[in-house]
Amino acid sequence: MDKFRIVGGKKLSGTVRVSGAKNAVLPILAAAPLLDGRMEITNAPHLSDIATLMRILSTVGVKCDREHSGRVWAEVSDPRSSTAPYSLVRTMRASFNLLGPMWARRGYAKVSLPGGCNIGHRPVDLHLKGLRALGARIRVEGGYVVAEGEPVGGRIYLGGSFGSTVLGTCNVLCAAVLAKGDTTIEGAAMEPEVQDLCHFLIACGAEIEGVGSHLLRVHGVKELKGASWKVIPDRIEAATLVIAGLITNSEILVEGLRPEHLSAVLDRFDAAGVRIEVGEDSIRTLPREGRIRPLDLTTYPYPGFPTDMQAQFMALLTLADGISVVTERIYPERFIHAAELTRMGALIRREGASAVIQGVERLSGAPVMASDLRASAALVLAGLVAEGITLVDRVYHIDRGYERIEEKLRSLGADVERVQE
Ligand code: EPZ
Repeated sequence: MDKFRIVGGKKLSGTVRVSGAKNAVLPILAAAPLLDGRMEITNAPHLSDIATLMRILSTVGVKCDREHSGRVWAEVSDPRSSTAPYSLVRTMRASFNLLGPMWARRGYAKVSLPGGCNIGHRPVDLHLKGLRALGARIRVEGGYVVAEGEPVGGRIYLGGSFGSTVLGTCNVLCAAVLAKGDTTIEGAAMEPEVQDLCHFLIACGAEIEGVGSHLLRVHGVKELKGASWKVIPDRIEAATLVIAGLITNSEILVEGLRPEHLSAVLDRFDAAGVRIEVGEDSIRTLPREGRIRPLDLTTYPYPGFPTDMQAQFMALLTLADGISVVTERIYPERFIHAAELTRMGALIRREGASAVIQGVERLSGAPVMASDLRASAALVLAGLVAEGITLVDRVYHIDRGYERIEEKLRSLGADVERVQE
């Protein structure tokens, strides 16, 4: 099993480029069964999650491949097979988003319910509520969801106690675009990745209004063509790389990002008193005198602070000059990384859905265990600044969402290598 061996304490320098957004590629790829024609994504990152979804697409009659240029394409070849298997779906939750598109285009879909997840309870009740509101006859049998019938426009409220569901909005939207009549989706998620899916579907001929708001209005169409699409930059990878510069107190340039997707994170950088220069499509980190300021941080649906940046920001706060409080409003259990950071000398205690972090002067390298995609990124960031050697185990988690991150960090001067042990 691969590990990352990190020798901490190196200053970073240079420029690094952000890849295309994993969480934009996944719902767009999952929409392939909707289309009469070929879709292609020109800047899809090389990630195991995307490879997994491509394997699942091939089990439901969609041919897909990645060309050397990095271009990923998908096209329906045999719409008769419409069962997405548990063995693959359980490894990658976003594959549940095949349900809406397959049902809407074929009148039938059978998709395994996703398995458990390290970051917390992740039901799909809102996905099913939305598809039922569009006329789907849904039953659960043997761990699979079966959806049958013809999609008819309707009025849907997708909000929940936590706000809105990102993949739930995508799943329901991908059924509404081919439904007979009009659909309103209230309480829709408005993450940039949801907006990118909307724009892609519009490029395929869908009629969607309210993109970027919590109220989407869809006028169903009879057919959607394929389209070529360049997904948005990965805002989570971008902010993770910025923190690599900040936590090592270095000057680096992270380019190819969209600052307007990171307003909540930039606000917390400002509260931390770090020095950054925000450009048109880049963020430069600058060395600062002294330690960063402690702060409070709470995760919310977009445009609030993204839960997918919580662990990485916590790594930075372990070195703040005082006490910070990080509160999770999306996944209250998403703190497995806190215990691992404690092994590196951080002082963190849990208080319900919050973690209280008493800043320390330094971290020390240790063997640590990655538990989910973003927690593993947090441990790598901590390893960059910790004294001594950090071994991050189970880095297959990080390969799910970060394209060649050790190469990107090494290009900045970090001493990170992938080892087999
Ligand atoms: C997406 O997951 C992202 N994944 C997650 O990123 C991200 O953490 C999450 O949104 C929140 O921003 C992809 O886009 C592939 P949700 P998703 O449905 O859509 C509750 C990463 O690191 N909920 O928005 O599955 C749920 O329990 C991953 O790239 C219901 O109650 O998340 C949670 O509290 C990790 N019922 C909240 O909504 C439902 O039917 C947000 O979940 C669906 C969700």
